[in-house]
Amino acid sequence: MSDQPKYKPYRDGKLFPDGITSQTSPQGTVARGEPAESVANEVRPAMTAALLGRGQERFDIYCAPCHGRDGTGNGLIPQRGYPRPSGYYDERLLKASDRYLMHVIAGGYGAMYPYASRISPADRWAIVAYIRALQLSHNIPVTEIDAAMRGQLEATP
Ligand code: HEC
Repeated sequence: MSDQPKYKPYRDGKLFPDGITSQTSPQGTVARGEPAESVANEVRPAMTAALLGRGQERFDIYCAPCHGRDGTGNGLIPQRGYPRPSGYYDERLLKASDRYLMHVIAGGYGAMYPYASRISPADRWAIVAYIRALQLSHNIPVTEIDAAMRGQLEATP
C-alpha cells in the first residue's frame, strides 16, 4: 500500500488547478452527522429521574474507574499509579458551567483522555446531570434533608 501512486497531504500534485493536494472544503460543506451532533451538544435535555439514572449508569462505567463512584478521585485506576484526579468538590468545579463539563468529557483534560468517540452528546448531558447531583449531595446542609432521610443517615455508622 505504501508503494501505490498516491498524493500525500501538503505535497505538490496535479489533481487540482492550484497544484496543492490538501484542499479546504468547498464553502457550505457539512460533514456527515455534524448537524445532529451539534444540536445534541447545544441543547441541554430537561432534568428528569430517567436522565439522572442514565447518567449514574454511564458515570459508573466510564468515569468511576478513575474518579471513584463518589467523585472524590479515589478510583481503582489511580490507586494503581495513574495520576489521581482531584475531586469534583472544589470551588472551581462547583462553579464550572455544564457546558465546561461537556467540553471536558468530549475533549479530555490534562492526563484524562477524550471521550467524544465513546460517549454520545445525550449521554454526556446525562453524566453532567449526575455530576451535579454528586456535587449537591456533598454540600447540602443537613437541615435541607427530609426527616426520614436524615434519620436513615444518622443511623448509618
Ligand atoms: C483514566 C482515568 C480517567 C477517567 C476514566 C476519567 N477521568 Fe476525568 N480526569 C482524570 C484525571 C487524571 C484528571 C485530572 C487531569 C489533570 O489535572 O491533568 C481528570 C479531570 C477531570 C475533570 C476536572 C477538569 C478540571 O477543570 O479540573 C472533570 C470534570 C472530569 N475529569 C470528568 C470526567 C468524566 C465526566 C469522566 C467520565 C466520562 C472522566 N472524567 C473519566 C482521569 C480520568
